[in-house]
Amino acid sequence: MILVTGGAGFIGSNFVLDWLAQCDEPVINLDALTYAGNLENLASLRGDSRHIFIQGSIGDFDLVSPLLVEHKPRAVINFAAESHVDRSIHGPEDFIQTNIVGTFHLLEAVRAYWGSLEGEGKANFRLLHVSTDEVYGSLGKDDPAFAETNRYEPNSPYSASKAASDHLVRAYHHTYGLPVLTTNCSNNYGPYHFPEKLIPLVILNALAGKPLPIYGDGQQIRDWLYVKDHCSAIRRVLEAGRLGETYNVGGWNEKPNLDVVHTLCAILDDLRPRADGKPYRDQITYVTDRPGHDRRYAIDAGKIEGELGWKPAETFETGIRKTVRWYLDNQDWVGNVTSGAYRQWLDTNYGARP
Ligand code: NAD
Ligand code: TYD
Repeated sequence: MILVTGGAGFIGSNFVLDWLAQCDEPVINLDALTYAGNLENLASLRGDSRHIFIQGSIGDFDLVSPLLVEHKPRAVINFAAESHVDRSIHGPEDFIQTNIVGTFHLLEAVRAYWGSLEGEGKANFRLLHVSTDEVYGSLGKDDPAFAETNRYEPNSPYSASKAASDHLVRAYHHTYGLPVLTTNCSNNYGPYHFPEKLIPLVILNALAGKPLPIYGDGQQIRDWLYVKDHCSAIRRVLEAGRLGETYNVGGWNEKPNLDVVHTLCAILDDLRPRADGKPYRDQITYVTDRPGHDRRYAIDAGKIEGELGWKPAETFETGIRKTVRWYLDNQDWVGNVTSGAYRQWLDTNYGARP
């Protein structure tokens, strides 16, 4: 079996669902169920004995260590993190605790477990750490895309905490020989994306007749990857990645934020036109920029393509349409995640942005 951390979040739950759709190897899912963790994402696995959910933190050595010894996973895949840049600006502490201290405790537990293994079990064990392209910092307009050899220049408390966790993972390989793999992926989108992030926020605000907030001039560029393509990349790296290596994962889809929002508005105009016949883009509102906002991210995914033969299955156009449809078809899920705590976040983040 495998152990997945953070498997009730956006990418982790997509990963668990895809994994169990493709094979019968059981998954232990360790998740602290913060505001971003949602067991409803995994509702289709209720009663499925291949999925064992355990509520707890990666930072809890006394929980994780016996869990490893009891279930003897052949791999640990670490998705667990605080993941939202704006929240890291309002309150960096949780990011330091989970992404840095938590990853450290997880590494310690995994190191002890791996050290107790023998023979093939030891040789085949893997720890795969899921990270972000944001660790590389911000690119100028004409700079080449991020390669694995780019130096780390994180600019937000979120990206700095992820960079620190990547360094710890690297050090545990270099120092203790722990068999690690790291993936650095660009911005994901797709089903179960918590609506604090740009794409789901815009879809839901558009449908609710609310403003579509564009930070600054909206010309910041992100590379977008459909979440299921990220999951297939992780499976491929787990299967065939070289120990100690990092792999950049991206969709070859660089888009300015404003273009992404216009695309979402056009799809909604088509699939769910406004009652007054006006276009959704009329709801676009420019708001104060994010402090320290990175201007451009772009991923050179040549290494994972060349070495491991991975390619994304979706283009931005196909993936974004599927995503909008998913939100339209899953209004119950949407209603349940937009709880009181979520509304409080909207006041904190957008109330202060004229
Ligand atoms: P998310 O915020 O949706 O989910 C994070 C999950 O981790 C939640 O279920 C939460 O309950 C859980 N969690 C938080 N603290 C924990 C702890 N201490 N112990 C156990 N579980 C804990 O995040 P996501 O978007 O699914 O991202 C998953 C991973 O992928 C993160 O490591 C993130 O840095 C990375 N990543 C995300 C993106 C993206 O676009 N979302 C892109 C590249 C990399
Ligand atoms: P986000 O989804 O928060 O991901 P990240 O900051 O990790 O890239 O934001 C994507 C881009 O959209 C980023 O450049 C910030 C911008 N953005 C807005 O313009 N308005 C918003 O309301 C949000 C949430 C993000």
